[in-house]
Amino acid sequence: MKRSHNCTEVREHLINQRVSLCGWVNKRRDHGGVIFIDLRDRTGLVQVVFSPERHVEVHKQAHALRGEFVLFVEGEVAPRPKETENPNLATGMIEVNVDHLEILNPSQPIPFQLDEDVNENIRLVHRFLDLRRPEMQHNLITRHKISHSVRNVLNDNGFLDIETPMLNRSTPEGARDYLVPSRVNPGTFYALPQSPQLFKQLLMISGFDRYFQITRCFRDEDLRADRQPEFTQIDLEMSFVEPDDVMGITEKMMSTVFKEVLDIEVPLPMPRITYEEAMNRYGLDAPDVRIQLELVDLTEHMKNTGFKVFSRFAQMDDPIGERGAVKVMRVPGGASLTRKLIDGYTNFVGIYGAKGLAYIKINGPWQEDKWQSPIVKFFTDEEKATIESLSKAETGDILFFGADLENVVNEALGRLRVKVGREMNLVDDRAFSFVWVTDFPLLDWDKDAKRYTAIHHPFTMPNIEDLDKVNTLSDEAKALREQGRPYLPAIRSRAYDLVLNGVEVGGGSIRIHNPELQQTMFNLLGIGAEEADEKFGFLVNALTFGAPPHGGLALGLDRLVALMLGLDSIRDVIAFPKTQKATCAMTQAPSKVDATQLRELYLRSTFKPKVEEAEHSSE
Ligand code: AMO
Ligand code: AMP
Repeated sequence: MKRSHNCTEVREHLINQRVSLCGWVNKRRDHGGVIFIDLRDRTGLVQVVFSPERHVEVHKQAHALRGEFVLFVEGEVAPRPKETENPNLATGMIEVNVDHLEILNPSQPIPFQLDEDVNENIRLVHRFLDLRRPEMQHNLITRHKISHSVRNVLNDNGFLDIETPMLNRSTPEGARDYLVPSRVNPGTFYALPQSPQLFKQLLMISGFDRYFQITRCFRDEDLRADRQPEFTQIDLEMSFVEPDDVMGITEKMMSTVFKEVLDIEVPLPMPRITYEEAMNRYGLDAPDVRIQLELVDLTEHMKNTGFKVFSRFAQMDDPIGERGAVKVMRVPGGASLTRKLIDGYTNFVGIYGAKGLAYIKINGPWQEDKWQSPIVKFFTDEEKATIESLSKAETGDILFFGADLENVVNEALGRLRVKVGREMNLVDDRAFSFVWVTDFPLLDWDKDAKRYTAIHHPFTMPNIEDLDKVNTLSDEAKALREQGRPYLPAIRSRAYDLVLNGVEVGGGSIRIHNPELQQTMFNLLGIGAEEADEKFGFLVNALTFGAPPHGGLALGLDRLVALMLGLDSIRDVIAFPKTQKATCAMTQAPSKVDATQLRELYLRSTFKPKVEEAEHSSE
């Protein structure tokens, strides 16, 4: 079975030479006594030919070949006869005339053709076959190249690859943990890491200075096309740094990877905008800056308008409560949108809680109404002038309006911006646009639990300028919490996200390295001294032993690879991904386990299937 070449290495320079090849039967064609096989390996295809003239016995043997049989062949390379050359194939100028054939293994007929467009579930059930498809091989090879390139850049810049444990205490980072019961310590559980966050901080305290790891993280959360229960991070941490240093090394890494893998120049430095600006202009904290549409805030100008929905939300401005907003988005050329499309967009913003989508079409002077809209009658001339100048409206445009709580307006119009941008071809699909979003707020308010949560994570450093507010906040916050009222003081954090084409590919921050401040943060988050001590005692303790100032970031490798390949789903860049229901379609994980296994772990399942399921399973 010693092959001399991979399939696509067989080119014109080998004409008249003998080669030996291994691979799969991609396609078999029988042309009046001559059998042609497209032989496939990871590199691609080469045509091998079995003719009675060349070898009677081998030609006879070749009649047994079927799709996906695994072969070893030997033969001589020859130019393809004129007119049968295929310039679209790397090996299209030659073929191999076979005089020795070994069938290394036959194959059953496969459940779908590799070039067939089949539903994803079937592909996932037979993933080992699906992965034979050239696209999938290309995806995983590209993924390999990306991580290889990342390792090189980080190694060249003094980062050490250090592994951290998979069996942990839980690190609260927002999602639910995957738990692993301990047999040796009955009644206790490990948590799989949501990220190596605390360990990488501890490595900085240990003096390793620069750490990285390409590692698996586990989060039990609702899945989407860009979310898997287990996914991979390019995780890094650095000592004695400012955000600029972390962003700088990340930019260097991205530009090298794009150059090496896609031969694309990423212009550096990457643009930066603050969270506040991102929300104001794009409505989302992960804006797709390729789309040339922006939101404009009209709140100040709509406080007394005759259109009651607008004035009500414009006036809602409780300094320690919820804020309302009125915003407009101008879509060039949108005046031609049909009623049906506009109704569709109205339903779309409804998904994000918007109660309507007011619009104004800006018609030309030759049309009956200059402004065509169900709401224009409510506006004074002055208000119209303000809308026109602030939105920069021009003939042929449509203006879309949102009035609601500020976060609802931002999300609804922000998502609409992306949808309209794509549908009206206002975005260049092949472009790659990075943007840093900086100065994220430190805290969010959890309405249901009536408490603060950390937007990034509880170890994120507040902005020094806003530090005083953190120190005085606890009492104020406590009083408001007791009244069940949200209060979001404007405390910025030293956290930043890297966004590529509207997808959050990475996030990080400067960390708290002072134990008192870390304790204050826990208080603020409603984590009492006792709980903090129990859960994070080791961290707070470590911070008292000379912790260096430090910070870092993690990139979602799966998302990065999918974006670089222009794919919508990260499942296409993961060899064995989970389905939307967090199952493995191929191995059928998760599965029931033996009662003995459970007993050893001191566990008993209290799960009772619903009646229909029970009936179904007893069929
Ligand atoms: P964060 O939670 O922002 O930060 O995660 C970093 C990046 O990981 C990717 N990501 C995911 N990819 C696929 N499936 C998921 N379920 C999933 N969840 C997150 C995203 C995200 O930007 N420890 C911090 C980093 C730090 O502070 O250094 C962290 O984990 O692309
Ligand atoms: P109505 O007065 O409900 O008939 O609404 C008139 C127009 O305003 C319709 O186009 C609605 O879609 C729109 N509209 C209603 N409520 C809102 C809102 N909260 N934000 C934006 N537009 C709205």
